[in-house]
Amino acid sequence: MPEPLGIRISGSGRALPSRVLNNQHFVDRLDTTDEWIRERTGILERRVVSPGESTATLATEAARRALENAKMTPADLDMIIVATITPECLFPSTACFVQQALGGPPVPAFDLAAACSGFIYGFVTASHLLREGSPYKNILLIGAETMSRITDYEDRSTCILFGDGAAAVILSSTPDVSRHALLHHRIEAEGSGLSMLAVPAGGSKLPASKMTIDERLHYVKMQGREVYKLAVKRNLELIDSTLAEAGVKPDDIALVIPHQSNLRIIESARQRLGLPPDRVFTNIQKYGNTSAASIPLGIDECRETGRIKDGDLILLVAFGAGLTWGSALLRI
Ligand code: ACO
Repeated sequence: MPEPLGIRISGSGRALPSRVLNNQHFVDRLDTTDEWIRERTGILERRVVSPGESTATLATEAARRALENAKMTPADLDMIIVATITPECLFPSTACFVQQALGGPPVPAFDLAAACSGFIYGFVTASHLLREGSPYKNILLIGAETMSRITDYEDRSTCILFGDGAAAVILSSTPDVSRHALLHHRIEAEGSGLSMLAVPAGGSKLPASKMTIDERLHYVKMQGREVYKLAVKRNLELIDSTLAEAGVKPDDIALVIPHQSNLRIIESARQRLGLPPDRVFTNIQKYGNTSAASIPLGIDECRETGRIKDGDLILLVAFGAGLTWGSALLRI
């Protein structure tokens, strides 16, 4: 069992594009049905950006709300981390765009790419950087994605899944680990599965060309069924090992906030824990899979509605491209 890291969430905020794509949008254009999408994924609608909106605009809006919620200004931040696989551009990092928009003094700002596990990777990274004795006290961590920019709207097996959004938390160090702490975490990757879920072109391996555009290689390619099976397996392993190593019983957990990839994947985790539906958060119905944004969107919504409160034990769990996965058990 690792040593608890004293961190608390000082503020949170979210930003969602106003444009809604419901299932009928796809039924009108592709060989699919509302029933298939609901039954296989749980998704009813998702949000997508409009011209003028991007990962950095959503991330900045979420960050401003988190600062307001924390009653802080950009000058209070010691670092900015953006978890994303849909960055503003190849470089500079999206975090630098956010820093420019927020203003404030120069601070470290960088992106972190771990796909749907990105927020948990970022949470663990930030928590270690906030350890006692560190010069950093407040880290702005944002999960922000515009999945619609890399989604092939002619591929019915992937386009129905993804949505856009961003959410930010401000993580602050605290000496009192008995009140607020990251109690246990596990983040891992298995590169042997990288071709199962990827955007093949647009990087150094396969730069943009007429061929890559003609062959639609700038879009998400996913072996859905294989990824699904692995996501269920890894989620269950993560839950079992996290609870065993932390010495925690499912009943001790106030709320599980899982990555929102598929309602059936979430349901298998809920059944493993033996928890009632109200102890496992879902919002996939309205936002689809927003990759690194889905867990902070859940955290912010639950803080706002009072579904999580100071001192609650919260379990975060995610699985995504890489393949990557992670869990974090928090005393929030
Ligand atoms: N409408 C109707 N039929 C469809 C659709 C659709 N939108 N999409 C696929 N089908 C068909 C397939 O062609 C297939 O037909 P066939 O049997 O004639 O070949 C049939 O439905 C079943 O296809 P599967 O892919 O096996 O369907 P499955 O039940 O696995 O559901 C899904 C597909 C929803 C994509 C699922 O596999 C899934 O959720 N996978 C995991 C996604 C995930 O967790 N990703 C990780 C995070 S994402 C990230 O990191 C960026």
